[in-house]
Amino acid sequence: MEKNIFKIPSLANVQAETSLSLQLKNELQISLPILINSLLVCADPNLSAQLSNVLKGVKHLLLKTEHKITFVNTEVNIILLVFCGDENTTATDIEKCALKNIPTILIGDNIPALIMRKAVQYHIKDIVPLTPFNDEIGPVLITLVNEISVNMKMAPVVSIINGKGGSGASFITDCLGQICAQKSDDKIVLFDGDFQHGSLADILGVEPQYYLSDALKEVEKLDALSIQSMMCSNNNLSLLPVKPYSHLSDSVQINIPELSLLMNKIRSNFQLVIADFSRGLDHYSLPIIDISEIIFVVVQQNIVSIREAKALITYMRARLGIEPQRIHLIINRFSKKQNTLSINDIKDAIGIKSAFIIHNNYELASACTDLGKRIGQVHDAKQIKTDIGKIVVDLMPISLKKGKHSSGFWSRFMGN
Ligand SMILES: Nc1ncnc2c1ncn2[C@@H]1O[C@H](COP(=O)(O)OP(=O)(O)O)[C@@H](O)[C@H]1O
Ligand SMILES: [Mg+2]
Repeated sequence: MEKNIFKIPSLANVQAETSLSLQLKNELQISLPILINSLLVCADPNLSAQLSNVLKGVKHLLLKTEHKITFVNTEVNIILLVFCGDENTTATDIEKCALKNIPTILIGDNIPALIMRKAVQYHIKDIVPLTPFNDEIGPVLITLVNEISVNMKMAPVVSIINGKGGSGASFITDCLGQICAQKSDDKIVLFDGDFQHGSLADILGVEPQYYLSDALKEVEKLDALSIQSMMCSNNNLSLLPVKPYSHLSDSVQINIPELSLLMNKIRSNFQLVIADFSRGLDHYSLPIIDISEIIFVVVQQNIVSIREAKALITYMRARLGIEPQRIHLIINRFSKKQNTLSINDIKDAIGIKSAFIIHNNYELASACTDLGKRIGQVHDAKQIKTDIGKIVVDLMPISLKKGKHSSGFWSRFMGN
């Protein structure tokens, strides 16, 4: 039997300057749309280390390595199976991957016909050569992850950020969540991304027993049932609250892979995630903002707020490469009487074409944010409901309920 391991350039004996080792030294600079747990199975420790190094640069790819398949962890989304010359082992591994129904990419050079045939029979997703590995693996991973994310039915994420604290991001998150849940049967979850002063539990008037920090501690174990039951829920609107100051506790270490894994699990069990990032951008919010379908930037009708919103958007676009079409302004506490800064002035100054307004209504906002009242329970809510309603109809990715007795869309929308 031909031992192809000897044909894999470099591996243990490679000269440092060969083309393959040079290619495998470079980290791949790509970003996946969702967090993916992957397993690299490679019998050759040297090659395994080189491949891991290349894949280290892939954003949102969590990589575990094994020299043979064990399947201790069944939460694997993708297997990267490396052919190291042992035909029998690779053939059996292909069968094992198929049995577990885990999408698999076969990696190797000079793969024998028997293995190729096995790969086709068992629906291996793709075959990637080691030369040139860096050029080939990126597009293959992105295609496969896109396919997986469609099958996983991941809920879209809508992020709400303020350039400046106190702009109304939490109030708007609450209102959007309530109106979306009222007008749709979709299961909606509010995610409190303010790890310092999480306020959504107070705004929603709930007394939580379980917090984000608890969920993060056991994220690996959470299944569909526990994800649903850990939330504070009112019909189809749920919240995963943040315990104030929990980030300062030694027992709670928020880390990005766990947070991303939790977000993936939440997204697979709900139909919409609305995330409140009222502390602005930080280390933890960036990956979630990065995968958001819609990003609302809350701004108020004054120069300081506009300047801060512009700086925030410039940073997001430069750091995350976010396209301007995904960003929408919400001009909060809008008043026609403040006529020195019109909606168009604000759009032009910030450089974003899409803007919505929410009128100023202090009594209503403080009844919601301070007393935990629902928007429907507050007198004089019509204007704010109309403002929020326009955002929901124009942009929110939900299926709106069909009303039995309504004639027009807006009467259906505004009715209780
Ligand atoms: N449209 C509005 N009209 C009047 N007051 C508002 C409005 N939106 C928010 N507020 C008030 O502004 C304050 C800050 O709102 P909040 O949602 O906590 O801001 P952020 O989360 O951006 O820090 C709260 O007291 C809230 O009641
Ligand atoms: Mg807030």
